[in-house]
Amino acid sequence: MTEARLRSAEERRAEIQANAASLGIDEAYISLLVETFYERIRAHELMGPIFETAIGDRWGPHLETMKAFWASVALNAGLYSGKPVPAHTKLTKVQPWHFNIWLALFEQTLKDTAPTPGAVTYFMERAERIAKSLKLAMFGIPGLNKGGSNADS
Ligand code: HEM
Repeated sequence: MTEARLRSAEERRAEIQANAASLGIDEAYISLLVETFYERIRAHELMGPIFETAIGDRWGPHLETMKAFWASVALNAGLYSGKPVPAHTKLTKVQPWHFNIWLALFEQTLKDTAPTPGAVTYFMERAERIAKSLKLAMFGIPGLNKGGSNADS
């Protein structure tokens, strides 16, 4: 039973990596994507200061974390074991609309660098899904507290 489960996890990983490879996605591309994206984030007049304040002189480790994160998300590489939710809930200056800018910069970076058009869609589907769950953790369900009688809504 355990052996069968292990084998199917291995098979699943191999399948995901073969699919990603058919779109030109590998660790080398993920490294380029992460480097280019955060260069643009840092240069952005609204996003740059949020990241600089939170990250300070830890950019080297942050980029390594993000490469491991995307290798785990896109290649099922199992390299990332961090906690994205607390890393974001502590960012008290971030508003929901910052996510639109984040996603737009990520998409443009993909369009400018991706090895195939399919790779753009592949990353964007995952980024949008994760952005949605981070927003839910940070801000709750949109509209849930609106229009009711709660004074603090
Ligand atoms: C408004 C949008 C966002 C802002 C301002 C933001 C900002 C940040 C900052 C400042 C950190 C570093 C925290 C620290 O090390 O102290 C961080 C970490 C991280 N972010 Fe974001 N982020 C945003 C959206 C996203 C999205 C959409 C994703 C995924 C698709 C993402 C994935 C991550 C991950 C995986 C980490 C590393 C967490 C850890 O293990 O330490 N972020 N983010």
